[in-house]
Amino acid sequence: MKKSPSSTEKNGTTLLGLILKRRAKVGIMGLGYVGLPLACEFARVGFPVTGYDVDPAKVKDIARGVSYIPDVPGEEVKSLVRSGKLTAVSDPKALSAMDAVIICVPTPLRKSRDPDVSYIVAAVDTLRKNFRPGQLIILESTTYPGTTREIVLPVFAEGGKREVGRDFFLAFSPERVDPGNRTFRIRNTPKIVGGLTPLCGELARALYGSVVEKVVAVSSPEAAEMAKLLENTFRAVNIGLVNEVALMCDRLKLDAWEVINAAATKPFGFMAFYPGPGIGGHCIPLDPQYLSWKLKGLNFNARFIELADEINSHMPDHVVKRVGDALNSRSKSVNGSDVLVLGVTYKKDITDVRESPALPVIDLLRERGARVRYHDPFVPRLNGEVNLPSSSLTRDLLAKQDCVVIVTDHSRYALPIEDIVEASPLVVDCRNATKGIDVNGNVFKL
Ligand SMILES: NC(=O)c1ccc[n+]([C@@H]2O[C@H](COP(=O)([O-])OP(=O)(O)OC[C@H]3O[C@@H](n4cnc5c(N)ncnc54)[C@H](O)[C@@H]3O)[C@@H](O)[C@H]2O)c1
Repeated sequence: MKKSPSSTEKNGTTLLGLILKRRAKVGIMGLGYVGLPLACEFARVGFPVTGYDVDPAKVKDIARGVSYIPDVPGEEVKSLVRSGKLTAVSDPKALSAMDAVIICVPTPLRKSRDPDVSYIVAAVDTLRKNFRPGQLIILESTTYPGTTREIVLPVFAEGGKREVGRDFFLAFSPERVDPGNRTFRIRNTPKIVGGLTPLCGELARALYGSVVEKVVAVSSPEAAEMAKLLENTFRAVNIGLVNEVALMCDRLKLDAWEVINAAATKPFGFMAFYPGPGIGGHCIPLDPQYLSWKLKGLNFNARFIELADEINSHMPDHVVKRVGDALNSRSKSVNGSDVLVLGVTYKKDITDVRESPALPVIDLLRERGARVRYHDPFVPRLNGEVNLPSSSLTRDLLAKQDCVVIVTDHSRYALPIEDIVEASPLVVDCRNATKGIDVNGNVFKL
C-alpha cells in the first residue's frame, strides 16, 4: 500500500514547487547594501518580493522607485516596483504571507568589540510573531559559527513544539556582496548554503539557484558560517601582513608597492595584497572579531586574527607619522599645518564610510593640531564624530595646503592625479595612486 506523504514531504514539496515555478513569495528583512540588491535580483527573475525594513525612509524610497544603494540603479528599482514584483513595507505582518524569508540585518561589534547580534535577535523575534508554518527562513548576516542553530532555531522550534525540516525550514547562506565590484555581482558569485536538515539545504539551494549560477552546499549552517568568516579573516590577515611589510619597507627605505608587484610576477604560490591606511567597511574589520570571540569561549586564542587587527588598526597612526615626516622635510610641524584628506570612503569608488580609516586619520591629525579638510566626490558631507563638508577640489585649494593625504584612490577626481601632485606642496600617498609621478620629491608613500 502506498504511504500517504508526511507533512514534511507535503510542506517541502509544495515549497519546492513554488520555488521552481518562481511563485514562492520571497521576503527580505533588511534592505541595506546586501538586502536591496538581493531583493531586486529575486524580483528581476520573476519572484514576487516583499522587502521589510525598520527604517521608514528606505521603505519610502523604494516605494517611490528610488535607490539609495549605488550598485542598484534607481531605474531598476522603479521598474520592479511598477511591475508589482517588488514591494517594500514597514508593517511586519506582511511577512506572514511569505514562503521564504531572508534575513539581511547588520551584525556590528559592541564598544567592547564583542559581537552585537541584537539585530538578528530583533529580526527573528519580529518574524516569530509573523511566522507561518512551512516557511523557509534563511540567515545571511555574517556571524559566528553556531548562531543559526543556537539563536534562530530555538525561536521557531518553540521548545520542541515545532520541528525544523518539517514545520519550518532553516538555513544559513552568507552574503558575498562586494560593493562597487563591476565584474562579480550576485549572479556570478557562487553562494554557499548550509541547511539544518538535508531538506532545508535543498530548499535553500533551489531558491538561490534561481538567481545565482552556482550554489555550493555544505553539510551544516556552522560550516557555511565558518566559511564566510574564513574568507574575511583571510583578507584581514593578508592585509595585516602587507601592512607590516609596508612598515618594514618604511624602515628599509623601500617602496612597498614595487616590492609586492615584483613578488606578484611569480605565477604560482603568491597572491598580491596591497597596504593602505587601514581596513574599513562592514566586513573585514568586524567579521574576524566574531570568530575570535567565539573561539575565546572555547578557550582558544585566535592569534593571527588578533595580530592582524593590531597591525591594521595601527595604520592610521602610521599615516599620521608619514604626514609628520613629510612636513618635517620642509621644517614644518603637524601642529598648525593645513592638511587635506583626499578620499574618505574605506575603498575606491563607493560611498560607504563605515569604519573608514579616513576617520581616525582625520581625528589623529586634529589631535596633533592640524587644520583638516577633506574632499571626496562620493561623500558630500561627513556626519558623525567627524562632522565636515567636502571641500571643492581646485588647484587653488591644493596650493594652500601644507600637505595632501591620499587616503582613497578613487578612479576619478575632479583633477587628474598629475595635477594634484603638481599643485600640492607635499603629498602623502597611502595607496600608490601617484605611481610614477613625483614632483621634486614631494610625494611620501606610506
Ligand atoms: N555591505 C557589505 O558589503 C556586506 C558584504 C557581505 C556581508 N555583509 C553582511 O550582511 C549583513 C547586512 O549588511 P549590510 O551592509 O546590508 O547592512 P546595512 O546596514 O546596509 O543594512 C541593514 C538593513 O537592515 C535594517 N534593519 C535593522 N534591523 C532590522 C530589523 N529588525 N528588521 C528589518 N530590517 C532591519 C536596517 O534598517 C538596514 O536598512 C551584515 O551581517 C554584514 O556583515 C555585508
